[in-house]
Amino acid sequence: MAIDPQELRRVLGYFATGVTVITTKDREGEPYGLTANAFTSLSLDPPLALICIDKVVQCYACFEESKVFAINVLHEDQEDVSRRFATKGIEKFAGIKWHKGKTGLPLLDGAIAYMECEIMRSYEGGDHTIFIGHIVDVAASGDRPLIFFKGKYLRLP
Ligand SMILES: Cc1cc2nc3c(=O)[nH]c(=O)nc-3n(C[C@H](O)[C@H](O)[C@H](O)COP(=O)(O)O)c2cc1C
Repeated sequence: MAIDPQELRRVLGYFATGVTVITTKDREGEPYGLTANAFTSLSLDPPLALICIDKVVQCYACFEESKVFAINVLHEDQEDVSRRFATKGIEKFAGIKWHKGKTGLPLLDGAIAYMECEIMRSYEGGDHTIFIGHIVDVAASGDRPLIFFKGKYLRLP
């Protein structure tokens, strides 16, 4: 029996997640990124992370070209950043403060945790591609994550 995509989206929204911006770069080093919650820790030894990226996102080719990405876990004050990086057709980094990580990847100021990854494998995943990244550097500070649940942004009490 076929599942109605709108109903599937609604039901998937019942899984509460944090919110990340996944950043990458093109061949010239220009920064790109998108809001994503399809992130999971995969393995501690070796250190691996998994992300799922829609094949139609603007920066899709960058993942294949640069073979690197960074996971920026957003702070509860970064709802505007999440909305910005989930908006198609805009200069996403305009007005955004960021710095370079150890691998040269763009890291967003104010995020509560960072993981810099080198892509080691990718798999077909329907309309998305599953990228597995080898985590090469990490940092975390502060608390108060931004939370996404049933299509809305929430904060911890
Ligand atoms: C909370 C939230 C989570 C999202 N998670 C993902 C995700 O895991 N993978 C993905 O490809 N797009 C995800 N998106 C959608 C992208 O952020 C959105 O399509 C973005 O505009 C794509 O970048 P582009 O404009 O450069 O194509 C998510 C959006 C939101 C608001």
